[in-house]
Amino acid sequence: MDEVIARVAQAIAAAERILVITGAGLSADSGLPTYRGLGGLYNGHTAEGLPIEAALSGPMLQRDPALCWKYLAELGKACLGAQANAGHHAIAELQRRKPGCWLLTQNIDGYHRAAGSPMERVIEIHGELAPLYCQSCGAVDPELSEHLKRPLPPRCRQCAGVLRPPVVLFEEMLPEQAIARLYAELRQGFEVVLSVGTSASFPYIVEPVLRTRQAGGLCVEINPDSTDLSALVEVHLAGRALDVLPKLLSHI
Ligand code: OAD
Repeated sequence: MDEVIARVAQAIAAAERILVITGAGLSADSGLPTYRGLGGLYNGHTAEGLPIEAALSGPMLQRDPALCWKYLAELGKACLGAQANAGHHAIAELQRRKPGCWLLTQNIDGYHRAAGSPMERVIEIHGELAPLYCQSCGAVDPELSEHLKRPLPPRCRQCAGVLRPPVVLFEEMLPEQAIARLYAELRQGFEVVLSVGTSASFPYIVEPVLRTRQAGGLCVEINPDSTDLSALVEVHLAGRALDVLPKLLSHI
């Protein structure tokens, strides 16, 4: 695999426009659960007998905020209890060295920000877990960890409305600004797309790969397992993000 990594590194070094796409597999190396697959959050039903997608949905947050928050709090505690790993740091370093390197992440843990990725070139397509804001009056509340120690759902200090994180819940729209940025950058095109730790379950994750391949660019997947992307990419590096990304960077 080292030879292939060196070849991919060469292509990245020669490229100006690079897109890194990340998913839960990158943060799995920090100890967070993934959504699908072994140990994934979506493999069963909640204690209430609901599919987790129903518990973590926009309509549920309105109908039964305590129930939705029970599962948001699990995500929140996992994210607050771990930290960015060498894979996140390698991506941030790549972005520093390559001013045309963009990051499209589905992760809501904020670890790319913590690792120092330049946020003007990060598209958080599923939002972020913090800071919370009030659904009634819009006030922003930076105390996620404090709220997680108290009864749920967390309430606004000013108006007692229910707080929520700026994440995209199931059945909610993607953030307009993030979509606009993604498609503006896709129109400019990318020479290399690097997909890291994602099952690529959404069309807006697959599309950059399809477009880049059609335009003659190089698409690479880093994932120990095969996904729907594996047949579409030119190179599948079947390893963990934590191992492969620092190695890749060491050649650039
Ligand atoms: P998934 O849980 O669907 O996929 C995680 C992928 O990471 C799988 O393909 C694993 O094989 C791979 N993986 C596991 N460990 C890895 C490692 N150490 N290194 C590299 N890869 C590894 O997660 P996502 O594709 O991110 O959305 O899921 C996308 C979205 O589905 C999430 O953002 C979430 C969920 O619905 C929302 O909450 C809106």
